[in-house]
Amino acid sequence: MRGRIPDSFIDELLARVDIVDVIERRVPLKKAGREWTACCPFHNERTPSFYVSPAKQFFHCFGCGAHGSALKFLMDYERLEFPDAVEELAQSVGLTVPREGGDDRAQREDKTDLYALLDAAARWYENELPKSADAQAYCKKRGLDAATIQRFRIGWAPAGFDGVIKALGGSDKRMHLLNEAGMVASNERGNRYDRFRERLMFPILDRRGRVIAFGGRVLQSDQGPKYLNSPETPLFHKGRELFALWQVKQANPSLARIVVVEGYMDVIAMHQAGLPIAVATLGTATTPEHTEVLFRAAPDVVFCFDGDRAGRAAAWKALEAALPRLRDGRQAYFLFLPDGEDPDTLIRKEGKDGFEKRLKAATPLSEYFFSELSHDVDTASLDGRARLAERARPLIARLPDGAFRDLMAQELEKRTGARAVLEADPAARRPVQRPIVVQRSLVRSAIALLLAQPGVADQVERPYGFLRLDKPGVELLAELIDLARSRPGINPAMLVEHFAERPEYAALQKLMAAMVVGEPETQREEFLDALSRMEQQAVIQRRDYLTAKSREGTLDAAEKAELRELLAARVTPLKAE
Ligand code: UTP
Ligand code: MN
Repeated sequence: MRGRIPDSFIDELLARVDIVDVIERRVPLKKAGREWTACCPFHNERTPSFYVSPAKQFFHCFGCGAHGSALKFLMDYERLEFPDAVEELAQSVGLTVPREGGDDRAQREDKTDLYALLDAAARWYENELPKSADAQAYCKKRGLDAATIQRFRIGWAPAGFDGVIKALGGSDKRMHLLNEAGMVASNERGNRYDRFRERLMFPILDRRGRVIAFGGRVLQSDQGPKYLNSPETPLFHKGRELFALWQVKQANPSLARIVVVEGYMDVIAMHQAGLPIAVATLGTATTPEHTEVLFRAAPDVVFCFDGDRAGRAAAWKALEAALPRLRDGRQAYFLFLPDGEDPDTLIRKEGKDGFEKRLKAATPLSEYFFSELSHDVDTASLDGRARLAERARPLIARLPDGAFRDLMAQELEKRTGARAVLEADPAARRPVQRPIVVQRSLVRSAIALLLAQPGVADQVERPYGFLRLDKPGVELLAELIDLARSRPGINPAMLVEHFAERPEYAALQKLMAAMVVGEPETQREEFLDALSRMEQQAVIQRRDYLTAKSREGTLDAAEKAELRELLAARVTPLKAE
């Protein structure tokens, strides 16, 4: 038996996750003032009465009264038992759930201390800044004003090997924390010393304004790496964090556009120039996690890069990271800067207005997409057009279902004459070989197909329409898809192993073993096909239920409206050819 989960861990977990993230991953949310809203996932409704408060880290439905924390949401939404909901939530933020009696318990309870320590370190660096003439001169040279220095909590790590250690490492426990926070490094002999020395210090804040890491810049270019960042720590995962997102949110209660630039100084220069809408990744490429965070901050995201080769490569990476997140209503743009310039230098030359003009003229993703894919193909030739179609199709398929994807597919067709075969409406694009008769086996075959090729899960997005289907196995399928989505590259065996302690284990193993051989591409289509048929079944199921209820005369107003809509949509079972 696993031990009890310590309460302190639950606290830490709830401090680490953002309820908006947790819910948004499952139920698309819309911004409404300081809160987020959606149609309630716990009861049927047409106008949203479900609210999520980032400040309170709490959800509440004014319609059905459902309410609670991120954990409660997971339990209710995924129908998980408490310990499983804790596991799931912990996994999503990269934490391991400790069990009472386990040896990592003492360490776990100190997370609040870790935040406090990093905050104290930031304060210490801030206090050092006025004491260093060199650092002061450098700030002046870079044009940083006092308000900016304060807003970004810019500081100075002085020379010497134990400034931070002396100031903050007073006890074994505190030394341990300094180490865990990535503030110290050690040499071969095991002696500890300050990681950051003679560097201008930029604290990295999390989404709630807490210091979680630092970036440090040398004053002269010959002093080792220009920027040194904190290593990955229990609080800092660079693939997830964006520099200055906190400052952006503080400056803009609602934000139409957010700009991603490459460097700390670019962000800071833009904020100082009156454009507090810039964030930066932290010495890494843009990840899909970044893009999700970005789109949640603003519907329009402008990726701003140097015009050189490296900048182009980074932009394409960003495009790929953005594709699966481009739901309708979200737009990505690309802005390439002239050679040798970055936002910092440009905004000083051209001012806020000049830079804004560039932002407004940024290239929409669709345009960048097609121009980049066709830059080395001859679209006048049949071969060239075929090549373009071949390159574009799998990328367009990564877009979530919606008007934007349809438009991109149309555009591809216009440019190449080739149809983009998309999963959105498989029933429409080719004859259906099998009628929907036994829904049970539909669910089972979807699971089998997923087990054969967990990567297919990438093309499915929450909320899953098929979950409305009231049939055994549907929840399990959703769980498998979630799992596969959360672990890119997971192989079928690993996927099944996740259920080792569950009653479904044997059945899953059987399904995996029974899988018939087939072309991966065909199987992928069959999988998506099965999902959309399940969705249709759910609609039919609901319609039949409401029709029966209507005969009894017990429909309420909302249900009547729903039934009218369902009947108008005339969803009928697919017929066998
Ligand atoms: P740049 O060198 O373009 O940064 O690196 P910058 O902000 O324009 O630097 P200044 O203007 O010379 O001060 C862009 C980003 O890449 C990361 C940092 O996050 C930096 O802000 N980087 C760069 C590193 O992590 N390490 C490095 O050695 C250099
Ligand atoms: Mn620069």
